[in-house]
Amino acid sequence: ASTRHYSANAGSPLPPTYERLYNKYSEVRRVLGAQRLTLAEKILYSHLDNVEEALGSINGRDIRGKANLKLNPDRVNMQDASAQMAMLQFMSCNLPQTAIPASIHCDHLIVGERGADDDLSAGIKTNHEVFDFLESAAKKYGIDFWPPGAGIIHQTVLENYAIPGLMMLGTDSHSPNAGGLCTITIGVGGADAVEALVGAPWELKAPKILGVKLTGKLNDWVAPKDLILHLAGLLTVRGGTGFIVEYFGPGVETLSATGAATVCNMGAEIGATTSIFPFTEASSRYLKATRREQASRDAELLQNFPGSGAAQDAYFRFEADKGAEYDELIEINLSELEPHINGPFTPDLSTPLSKFKETVLEQQWPEKLSAGLIGSCTNSSYEDMTRVESIVREAEKAGLKPAADFYITPGSEQIRATLERDGTLETFTEAGGILLSNACGPCIGQWKRQDGVEKGTLNAIFTSYNRNFRGRNDGNPDTMNFLASPEIVTAMAFAGSTTFNPMTDTLKTPDGKEFRFPAPKGLEGPQTPYEEGRETFKPLSQAPDASVKVAISPSSERLALLEPFDPFPESDLSGLRVLVKVTGKCTTDTISAAGPWLKYKGHLPNISANTLNTAVNKATGEVNVAYDLDGSKHTIPELAKKWKEAGQPWLVVAEHNYGEGSAREHAALQPRYLGARIIVCKSFARIHETNLKKQGVVPLTFANEADYDKIDAGDEVATIGLYEMLKNGGKGEVSLKVTKKDSGEEIVIPTKHAVSEDQAGFILAGSALNLLAKR
Ligand code: F3S
Repeated sequence: ASTRHYSANAGSPLPPTYERLYNKYSEVRRVLGAQRLTLAEKILYSHLDNVEEALGSINGRDIRGKANLKLNPDRVNMQDASAQMAMLQFMSCNLPQTAIPASIHCDHLIVGERGADDDLSAGIKTNHEVFDFLESAAKKYGIDFWPPGAGIIHQTVLENYAIPGLMMLGTDSHSPNAGGLCTITIGVGGADAVEALVGAPWELKAPKILGVKLTGKLNDWVAPKDLILHLAGLLTVRGGTGFIVEYFGPGVETLSATGAATVCNMGAEIGATTSIFPFTEASSRYLKATRREQASRDAELLQNFPGSGAAQDAYFRFEADKGAEYDELIEINLSELEPHINGPFTPDLSTPLSKFKETVLEQQWPEKLSAGLIGSCTNSSYEDMTRVESIVREAEKAGLKPAADFYITPGSEQIRATLERDGTLETFTEAGGILLSNACGPCIGQWKRQDGVEKGTLNAIFTSYNRNFRGRNDGNPDTMNFLASPEIVTAMAFAGSTTFNPMTDTLKTPDGKEFRFPAPKGLEGPQTPYEEGRETFKPLSQAPDASVKVAISPSSERLALLEPFDPFPESDLSGLRVLVKVTGKCTTDTISAAGPWLKYKGHLPNISANTLNTAVNKATGEVNVAYDLDGSKHTIPELAKKWKEAGQPWLVVAEHNYGEGSAREHAALQPRYLGARIIVCKSFARIHETNLKKQGVVPLTFANEADYDKIDAGDEVATIGLYEMLKNGGKGEVSLKVTKKDSGEEIVIPTKHAVSEDQAGFILAGSALNLLAKR
């Protein structure tokens, strides 16, 4: 194709973001020639800092899984829990404003207890110090600030910032939600966000692409949530690691943008880097309904720019090129899908609704349902809520009320106000539903239950949320949490039973009749555009103001300025001790618990007291127990603190998928603060592995998994080849010389690592931030 097709003209009708995208995409095409690209690759590679450097010297086929991509995201979105540390880190770089647009969303710190209004005022009172800090930092650096009650980050981003073709970073693992509107959005830790905020390119190992071809159309009782619940069962929590999941095929056209967002949101549950759907007519409809007609027109313009008739690869289309290859391919016929219920305790334990009753009985899970919770960032769309409304109305007409507590969390003020305007919320509250504030609440352990279920009491809840690790919702490890679509959760709440099948079973009405739920029916979006909502929840959006003083009290227990970590010594590490050998799942919740600890997110010394406090000790099976070299028993964070004070560096030994779950950088910061130098395990979750390197902790995996059995708590460890590898920009092998604590026997354990040149620089400098601040 001629160069005319490869660069946008001066005076181009494209908006600047698309003009940049188009020009970069043209470079990608020039460098890669005729190679067919998937949609995810097109968007991702069109955000490369230097296309030639990244792709020029590599055979096209070898890009995925191998090339290190240095990317320039279009924007960064942060939630309040992670924004605190991100802003503290950004502040230490002494810049007057962020290099790219950004937003802060106050959603994680509001406790769900009595209902929206009471909970919100209580939350603002308890957390005002943090909100004031975030608001002042937002004003100073020109960041959009969404106050508490305005909504949950992912819903707000979908409604306001997601534009097809953009690339965004979000300091939350469910940021890929925006993939439902054809953006590449990746969940990262605060340190990654800071890189993008200071204008440094953000590095990512080029993901492989998992194609999911959708055919058919969902049946009545089946929701987009069931697609991802089913996929999670197929792929497990590790199945998407290192992949972008790209949906395509005729079935895609049958899904709403918000349904697609639910599917992308929960791509985090299979460990995927992100997920993406193409730009469809539903995307256009959603942009228009959310008052972004111009964005919709722009996206359509880009699809057809600069005109018809040239070779397809000269154009940026929001779809994969014909003949593009996927590294793995799964085909799902939506018409054959049935509702699924996933859990307890892991999102990949997936059971079709038709088999759920027998599974409950077989596994002796509780048959009584204590609570049904719908909404959250995952499932509070207009479509979700009106589908639920349709079945609640019918149940109400039959005289039925939910037999279990029933909670509704709207994802944003916009959706809440629209549902209020259209009468949906009234239907819920009249049925006895409790409306919670537009915030995360019970999804992140911020739930003060009012039903008398105490910690330690075995019970079952159903939620339409995305994650169900033990203790996630109410801090009770004995609450079995099952994930399902909002309509299934609601029907179960009416039944008050985990064995009820709303598709086949009936409920007894007060007048003795049999009631069967009709199939849910909803509207994709409102008939008139979404309501904007109350004035108090509008974002604060202003130019940077250097005169603003960022609010941190020196005596604060919640916020503390950061001290830089020490650089790596100019030698290999020696004299390390294994603090604890962990068995089983070790998620970011295990390493840095949420719930009540969220309040210390901006205070590293204080939050570190929760480090690994639900980890299981391999030797004894005890939770949160570690033994000092003299045999004395401690909690894990107590022993870590003791060793920190004694100048004893340490490492953790663990099993598979260490750091699974979220982008929570505290799970890397806290061990680093307490003296961890290495984590060695069978495998890592991607985001966490990167977070460790950014904080100067070395992540290693066993070259032979069986070597996990050879190393124990208390053993002394020295590294062989680590310093050399770091000096060589990540090239070279690393082994651990282990001296057994009891016998003094020495063994050498080979390991593997994925340290890139830049990451080697972070580790040598002590942290990525040290390096950024130096630059
Ligand atoms: Fe909040 Fe839960 Fe979503 S914590 S961002 S509602 S996953």
